[in-house]
Amino acid sequence: MQGDLPSWPPSEWYSDCAERCSTYLRNELPLSLPDGSGPIQQLEQEYSKQARQPFALACNSGTSALHSAYFALDLGPGDEVIGSAYSFHSSLTPLLHTPARPVLADIDPTTGGLSAESVLACLTGRTRAITVTHMYGYPVELDEIRIIATENNLYIIEDCSHAHGAQFLNGMPVGSIGDAAVFSLQESKLAPAGEGGLLLMRDEEMFDRAVALGHFGHRARHVSTGALSQLGDTGFGLKYRMHPLAALCGLAGVELAKKYLPERRILAEIISRSLSESRLFRFRWHPTASYYLFRLSVNARSSQELSQLYATADDRGIPLRKASMSPLTSLPAFSGQVELGRLEAGWMTTPAVVPMTLEYANQLASMPRLWALDHSDLLRELLESLLQLERDIT
Ligand SMILES: Cc1ncc(COP(=O)(O)O)c(C=O)c1O
Repeated sequence: MQGDLPSWPPSEWYSDCAERCSTYLRNELPLSLPDGSGPIQQLEQEYSKQARQPFALACNSGTSALHSAYFALDLGPGDEVIGSAYSFHSSLTPLLHTPARPVLADIDPTTGGLSAESVLACLTGRTRAITVTHMYGYPVELDEIRIIATENNLYIIEDCSHAHGAQFLNGMPVGSIGDAAVFSLQESKLAPAGEGGLLLMRDEEMFDRAVALGHFGHRARHVSTGALSQLGDTGFGLKYRMHPLAALCGLAGVELAKKYLPERRILAEIISRSLSESRLFRFRWHPTASYYLFRLSVNARSSQELSQLYATADDRGIPLRKASMSPLTSLPAFSGQVELGRLEAGWMTTPAVVPMTLEYANQLASMPRLWALDHSDLLRELLESLLQLERDIT
């Protein structure tokens, strides 16, 4: 079965990129756009419209867009940003380059998203912001977190890197609620550019700081916040500009994401229906998720049973693996135990206690990447082999 698995991004994205890029190159158009015009502007407008945020900044990665978001908040020494212990590290590691530090909160095990209760428990007088990751494309409903943020004067940052096209249950797009929202356009993502990231913001003055951080020259000179525009020549010394060819590929990525979103949702329904009676495998269905990747929760009685299950799946050629994303607490940078030199003073000093995250991550399994209705038969075959596996081992 493994040999037949499709690979992402699909050929049609490569063809679209090739066409857009070759037309651009044949016309000898600029390969550096310091003013953010042309395809960069088009891409920014596209994301601004999608996320319903007025200000958009294309960056060379999701990580640099996240750094720009944190820089825009003008965090001070000792300030704290609460984020989920179950996320990709870049949701929080750019804070290493600010005087602030991350505080890892636990997840709600029913959704896999940041738990509002845990956020409350992590609040201190130094908390300045909350970062929410819509992991695997499941929107984290923000009602409670928004109340906490409003009552405590905190910013909300939405990491939408997995969630292109996802909506909250009220129909609003992810990215539309936070003071800042970030999308990664890295190759594996739903709307790939190869490498790239988008920052969306609501407040112009804050956005100007983000521009000044990584877009010195034309864009930094034209920010409207007076004091910052004096730094136009140098900005804050970093260069986070997107390559125009990446912007063109990003536009092809936008089309790809739009095309397959409804199909991925139908595949998700197939998974949900097929596994509805399973006692071993649980799948979380959500009507407006983007389903970046399909993840199952394996209800094993012990880690030994879990390892046995993966070993048997492997013997049978069933592509089921433990999900590769580990809790942030397992990474040396977040352990509080590694010398980080000068940076350490503002960083983490004690490991976080996040039992729900540990249990959730331990049970999470990855299914192969499938995204089109053409993959339904393959998906049904896989689901049948999982149910057979369950019958055989329980
Ligand atoms: C949740 C999340 N946030 C941020 C990033 C960083 O994006 P990039 O790889 O474009 O820097 C990723 C990348 O995988 C991610 O998964």
